[in-house]
Amino acid sequence: MKILVIGSGAREHALVWKFAQSPKVSKVFAATGNCGMDNIAQRINIDNSNELLRFADTEEIDITFVGPEQPLAEGIVDDFSKAGMHIIGPNKSAAEIESSKIFAKNFMQKYNILTADFKIFSNIIQALKYIQKQVFPLVIKTDGLAGGKGVFICKNYTDAEIVLNHLMNYNMLGKAGHNVVVEHYLQGEEASLFAFCDGNDFVSTILSQDHKQLNNGDTGPNTGGMGAYAPAIFQKNLKQEIDNKVIAPTLYGMQNEGRPFIGILYAGLMITKEGPKVLEFNCRLGDPEAQVILPLLENDLVDICQAIIEKKIHTIKLIWKKKSAIAVVLSSGGYPKKYEKGYAISGIDTINLDKDKDTLLFYSGVNCEKDRFVTSGGRVLSVVAIGDSLLKAKQKVYDNVKKISFKNMHFRTDIAQKGIRKLLPN
Ligand code: AMP
Ligand code: GLY
Repeated sequence: MKILVIGSGAREHALVWKFAQSPKVSKVFAATGNCGMDNIAQRINIDNSNELLRFADTEEIDITFVGPEQPLAEGIVDDFSKAGMHIIGPNKSAAEIESSKIFAKNFMQKYNILTADFKIFSNIIQALKYIQKQVFPLVIKTDGLAGGKGVFICKNYTDAEIVLNHLMNYNMLGKAGHNVVVEHYLQGEEASLFAFCDGNDFVSTILSQDHKQLNNGDTGPNTGGMGAYAPAIFQKNLKQEIDNKVIAPTLYGMQNEGRPFIGILYAGLMITKEGPKVLEFNCRLGDPEAQVILPLLENDLVDICQAIIEKKIHTIKLIWKKKSAIAVVLSSGGYPKKYEKGYAISGIDTINLDKDKDTLLFYSGVNCEKDRFVTSGGRVLSVVAIGDSLLKAKQKVYDNVKKISFKNMHFRTDIAQKGIRKLLPN
């Protein structure tokens, strides 16, 4: 079989790595991919949907797998499906569960899926009038996709007024911010759950935990994700509760709305004292969560994709390694704001990936030049370790992180610490 993975980050590197292990796969292509994939995939320099479709058709690609949300929101699945090509991901109207927060919030309200209380505004005067009477902190979210920059936690009225002005009057995030959701702040611990969905049915993965803030102790600005671990440590029945109270009613609701969800549903959750509440839905795998979920998954990813395509996902039983995985993201100093690129990365060659199968390096902002690696993005590299315990995985991942360096390199030193703390005797 021939597989095409769309995207170019560490999540897509992990997907390519996983597909390449399948005995059913003869060749993996990545569009546009990154140079970390060069020994397992052929990179193609196409990022437009029509040309990708032409490529997939000419190359007789059996399954196309879409990594990021943007092509899904733009309707790549609709184009491929119309042409009779197999592609994993929701169509444009089902992808609205991520691409429109207003759709997602109204949907959750209609189908009684627990989420923060909210109000929607397209008029700044009304929004300001409403927030005057609210308790802070308060959360303001842009309706449209904003590349992880569309959520603002406001500590007081002045903060909120500035955010609303920037979004609704000064066009800071363009059209995405013209309509906003204002919602209550939820307290608790975050978790991510992914469900492989065939429109009618689903199987969900183990729980994982992203670390969205830039700095230790969950401080600093929100980023795309600075690290993740899996399985996340929570009470045993939590996953079942999320399956029953979040994933199942979402699948039912999407079908009822005439937008059956086919692909990967990502529930971003806050585990509050009253139970799990949805912070957001995404229509794809998470980054960096994919970098810890895929290495622990024993099943062949091709089997899962085929079951989605044939609407037989109920026949799949997911099997997991009885281990823990941690991903630490190395980022460029300055990210998520302005940062410099082009710095030489040292130490990648000192990690022997052939010898140590429990260590993985997934590239995102890395350029491979003739005889060196250089930084080319905000999130540069995910260093992943698999261990018999979370503590062992942590030791291993940070031993490897120590071997890599580049100018102004930044990373968190507390990835998975919340989980480890729960495992330690009191
Ligand atoms: P989202 O893109 O909606 O998941 O928001 C990004 C991040 O902002 C989340 O991962 C949370 O850390 C934080 N966040 C979003 N909504 C809320 C909320 N209602 N209460 C507390 N934190 C939130
Ligand atoms: N891990 C956050 C995201 O993928 O959106």
